[in-house]
Amino acid sequence: MVLENKLGLMDSLALAKQEERMSKIRAKQLFDDKLLSGQVARSFETLAFIHRFLFEEIYDFAGKVRTVNLAKGSFRFAPVMYLETSLAHIDQMPQSTFEEIVEKYVEMNVAHPFREGNGRSMRIWLDQMLKVELGQVIDWSKVGKEDYLLAMERSPIRDIEIKYILKQALTDEVSNRELYMKGIDHSYYYEGYTLYQAEELSC
Ligand SMILES: Nc1ncnc2c1ncn2[C@@H]1O[C@H](COP(=O)(O)OP(=O)(O)O)[C@@H](O)[C@H]1O
Ligand SMILES: [Mg+2]
Repeated sequence: MVLENKLGLMDSLALAKQEERMSKIRAKQLFDDKLLSGQVARSFETLAFIHRFLFEEIYDFAGKVRTVNLAKGSFRFAPVMYLETSLAHIDQMPQSTFEEIVEKYVEMNVAHPFREGNGRSMRIWLDQMLKVELGQVIDWSKVGKEDYLLAMERSPIRDIEIKYILKQALTDEVSNRELYMKGIDHSYYYEGYTLYQAEELSC
């Protein structure tokens, strides 16, 4: 099944390629035009802004909270019926230390607010939080793509691995676009979600 898109593409491979290309152009523009400067990235609003900017040419749902229940592998992200409450709770989470910022990021990943493109928009949001609060960002070239995904899969249960992986990659090079763009590449573009019915939760 191909995600409905503004490009009129009916083939998932073609869509994945276009989506990768177009979201990278937008990510560069976001950085070059300093569109996030001044945004403290404290709340979901900043993440929604990033998501909208990356995907508005491709999807109607850009910047909007999803309306279907999503799972990846055996992990079910927050059910739609709890999503707004969960996002309001995350907005209130502190973010003054590295540990707090990663904990907030992990919670946002469990919420997984968008139908697609959570990884890319959230890594930019994470960098923005780190930049504003600590004057540092992640050097994504020091984060192995597979190690990162394994640590994220593990993070809802135990966040020590993702904290370790991200901490050793912290850098003061906040104006280096190459490092920032490497974070966009930590996505697996051809991998979708399975949908689940909320009723199953009561089983
Ligand atoms: N099984 C899982 N459990 C928890 N988080 C996961 C799992 N699989 C993937 N993720 C997270 O979801 C992200 C992918 O989300 P997705 O919406 O496909 O965004 P993108 O297309 O930008 O990569 C990964 O980068 C990872 O952080
Ligand atoms: Mg994806």
